[in-house]
Amino acid sequence: MISTDVDRAVERLRAGGLVALPTETVYGLAADARQPDAVARVFDVKGRPTNHPLIVHLADPGLIDEWAVDVPEAAWHLSTSAWPGPLTMLLNRRVDVADVVTGGLPTIGLRVPSHPMTRDVLRRLGSGVAAPSANRFGRISPTTAEHVLADIGEILDPERDLILDGGACEIGVESTIVDLTVTPPQVLRAGAIAADDLQRILRIDLEDASGPSRASGMLASHYAPSRVVVMPVEGRQAAAALATTRRGRGERVAVLDRTDDLVVAAHLLYADLREADAGLLDALVVVLPPPRGLGHAIRDRVLKAAATTPTNPPG
Ligand code: TXA
Ligand code: MG
Repeated sequence: MISTDVDRAVERLRAGGLVALPTETVYGLAADARQPDAVARVFDVKGRPTNHPLIVHLADPGLIDEWAVDVPEAAWHLSTSAWPGPLTMLLNRRVDVADVVTGGLPTIGLRVPSHPMTRDVLRRLGSGVAAPSANRFGRISPTTAEHVLADIGEILDPERDLILDGGACEIGVESTIVDLTVTPPQVLRAGAIAADDLQRILRIDLEDASGPSRASGMLASHYAPSRVVVMPVEGRQAAAALATTRRGRGERVAVLDRTDDLVVAAHLLYADLREADAGLLDALVVVLPPPRGLGHAIRDRVLKAAATTPTNPPG
């Protein structure tokens, strides 16, 4: 199921199969966005509700017009500064985009990823691919081909589907999602590109998403381990104290503190959570990074991982 063969990945996508693709953020589970039946299978494999729209990944910023209309100047500006890269833009969709891709919404999420293998696949395919993160719905996103295999390997069809192995994802947390259909634009999901950087590129103030959640990554419970309890804590000393208290009650507790280097922290975050979940731990105390730059995205994911743990299962 795991392969490094780009030609085969393209063939399988063309034939309507699913291919788990490496990106610089996390692995995506891709289908040709112009084949509604293939896209529908992505929802089945993930166990994802069909009203949660998928991001369409493109080979090149010049292809925006094939998927979106009324593209504002700010979007073109962002596309030249931030693409290829970890930014998803919400734009008004073209009417010929399949409903299954956007969950029937009038908007579409677009992104040009930077991983060379996936860019190669997209260029050769000559289409966009609809791809959510390649995990079961609500669980921890995969940052290696082995994570994908462990999560959905048994659900994929070895005759039709493929996991393209491009190594460990460089960044490790999902793209920043910015909604450009509203003025001023709103950041709906913190990600690898900090809101500060977007503001600098656009020279305008961005708003944080308010009101009812519009992106599923905004659900309080997400990125969830299945066994270990994740306990986010502000500061090293508080973390050590909490760990001591819990150990005193006979619990098996580890402390995750990568606040010295947030690039490494993001790169390893999901592997760290998976390892803690697979081990013999009762609780993982996580030292939260300061809410600056990449720290926003890491805090967001850790807090969401904590919102759904064995003591607080999803509804
Ligand atoms: O880094 C990433 O963005 C990764 C890689 C694979 O590209 N993808 C990813 O996809 O994280 P997913 O589906 O796990 O998260 C995308 C989020 C979801 O919360 C989805 O609801 C939201 O983006 N989204 C996509 N299209 C949307 C739209 N038209 N309107 C509102 N939210 C949208
Ligand atoms: Mg996801």
